[in-house]
Amino acid sequence: MKKILLASLIAISFIQAKELNPSMQGFMNDLSVEAKKQNPNIQGFDYARGEVIFTTKQIGKKGNPISCVSCHTNDLSQNGLNEHTNKVIEPLSPFANPKRFTDVKEVKKWLRRNFKDVYNREGTALEQGDVITYIINKK
Ligand code: HEC
Repeated sequence: MKKILLASLIAISFIQAKELNPSMQGFMNDLSVEAKKQNPNIQGFDYARGEVIFTTKQIGKKGNPISCVSCHTNDLSQNGLNEHTNKVIEPLSPFANPKRFTDVKEVKKWLRRNFKDVYNREGTALEQGDVITYIINKK
């Protein structure tokens, strides 16, 4: 009985750990290959670097201080609010919003657009991988 309970607990914790689907895993692999091409010393993506990218304010596209937090908030399990349009943005965390990080095209499109909003340029492969690592693991 104890064994069965333990087995089912393990199964549940597997379900709760957010796994990326195969196409998203492929995208993360591509980013990793590209990042290593640009800098062979890179060891892998990093949550802490991703957090800095997500939370640091820059003078954005519109000439005002802005960060990813400005629209998505610091609590990724809650709705955000688009600074530019005042529209509600559903939670970015895949723990709170299972649609997140399932569609590579969507993720690429918004990362490109949102990096430009904040950093006035597209993110490098390393920056994109780091910030995704942060978002999908933050609880
Ligand atoms: C001006 C507001 C704004 C800022 C700043 C912003 N975002 Fe977004 N973000 C949005 C909107 C709007 C969407 C698309 C609507 C939606 O998906 O709910 C979006 C979608 C996304 C998605 C798509 C996820 C998915 O799977 O659907 C990612 C990833 C993302 N943002 C990351 C970032 C990062 C990283 C930054 C900082 C570099 C950032 N955002 C800054 C408004 C913003």
